[in-house]
Amino acid sequence: MSQYTININGTAKNLEAAADTPLLWVLRDQLKLVGTKFGCGIGQCGACTVHLDGVPTRSCVTPISEVGSREVTTIEGLSKHGDHPLQQAWQELDVPQCGYCQAGQIMTAAALLKKSHKPTDQEIDAALDGNLCRCGTYLRIRAGIHRAAELAAQEAV
Ligand code: FES
Ligand code: FES
Repeated sequence: MSQYTININGTAKNLEAAADTPLLWVLRDQLKLVGTKFGCGIGQCGACTVHLDGVPTRSCVTPISEVGSREVTTIEGLSKHGDHPLQQAWQELDVPQCGYCQAGQIMTAAALLKKSHKPTDQEIDAALDGNLCRCGTYLRIRAGIHRAAELAAQEAV
C-alpha cells in the first residue's frame, strides 16, 4: 500500500491504496463518488469516463499511481449545482433510458464541447464513438449535445 494525494473535483484528498488500484475503485469505494460507473472494466465501454486535466479518461484502466498531480473531475464535479449545459439539455430532452452509461457520455461530451463549441453530427459521433449505450440512446445523446451547445452559447452572451 502507498499514500497518494489526488486532486479531485477541486479538493485534495489523501488516501492509501495499492499502486495498481484502478482510479475507478478509489472513486467509488474510498471516496464514495458513485456517479462514475463500472461497465466492462477493460477500457471498452466508457461508463467509467472521468476527466484528467480535462481529457476524457477511462478510470477502470487508470492505476491510481498514474494519476499524479492531474486534476480529476467526475460527474459530481462537472458543475456546482448540476446545471452544466449538458445536464440541462439531458433533462430537457429526457436523454437517459436506464441511465447507466450516461455519466460517461456526459463527461465525454463535456470535453468535446470545450474543444468544439458547435460540434457537427460527425464530430459528435467520432468523439463519443467509444461510449456504449446498451439502451441505444445515441440519437438523443446527439440531440442533447446540440441543445447543450445552444444553451452554452446563450449563457455566454
Ligand atoms: S468500465 Fe471502464 S471502459 Fe468500461
Ligand atoms: S441509457 Fe441505458 S446503457 Fe445507456
